[in-house]
Amino acid sequence: MSAPAIPSVVTTNMSVAKLTATIGAEISGAELGEIARSDALFAQIKALLLEHKVLFFRDQPISRAEHVALARRFGPLEDHPVVPSDPDCPGLVRIYKDLDSAPEHYENGYHCDGTWKQIPPMGAVLRCVETPPVGGDTVWVNMVRAYEDLPEHIKGQIEPLRARHSIEATFGAVLSVERRLQLKETYPDAEHPVVRTHPVTGERILYVSGFATHFVNFHTPANVRYGFDYAPGGSQLLNYLIGRAAIPEYQVRWRWTKDSFAIWDNRSTQHYAVQDYWPAVRKMERAGILGEPF
Ligand code: SIN
Repeated sequence: MSAPAIPSVVTTNMSVAKLTATIGAEISGAELGEIARSDALFAQIKALLLEHKVLFFRDQPISRAEHVALARRFGPLEDHPVVPSDPDCPGLVRIYKDLDSAPEHYENGYHCDGTWKQIPPMGAVLRCVETPPVGGDTVWVNMVRAYEDLPEHIKGQIEPLRARHSIEATFGAVLSVERRLQLKETYPDAEHPVVRTHPVTGERILYVSGFATHFVNFHTPANVRYGFDYAPGGSQLLNYLIGRAAIPEYQVRWRWTKDSFAIWDNRSTQHYAVQDYWPAVRKMERAGILGEPF
């Protein structure tokens, strides 16, 4: 006989504080382990995530198993081909920047995680394990708003465009030629629309970031009359679009403390982990959640 289900205790005093008018909300009065166990609480969090795009929580000393269980509520987890996962918790990627990491290889840029795959992650649940005394914040950007604010003629021009996204040119850049070619064979560059539609909300999203290398269908008579229109014309347009994520009005910036968490929708946002703390140590653990085809 199976054991009777133990009803989970549902916290009712959850409160939501918007952090900017554009993106991000801090949730208090809710415990993440409890959210992982409760259908009702999880449904609330899922709805809040669609509304605010990134949710923040402080003081959540949950176990790694609870962290993984919470993220799995959204969907199956995935490891990263270059950044190792916790050996006891597959899917929990360790983003540890410590004294063993080579500072000269630190790089960052505004990005959606994993757009170098044909099916990038839908989101992630990130915990701060160790925070540097100063710096190490993460910035998230509302890419729906970035799209909405584009001039109408740019919206028209980019509507049919598609872009190539590459792991080879980013994570692969510091590898030996052999390892880079191997990586590229396993993860051939992906192609995505420049403007993506959110599968749940229907919002239009500007979908190029640091992983995008070039447009694949720009070189047509409609766009290119002279060679100059294509190079540098096409790459100038791509750089202009990529640069929109750096506009502060689209952003929220989160100051980490130990055991604080962020949950983000990776489809409608980009993020940037600010590298202004070296040589102090910063340790994060990220559960990345598998996305859907689009
Ligand atoms: C990431 O880029 O997914 C991690 C962000 C962070 O370390 O703050």
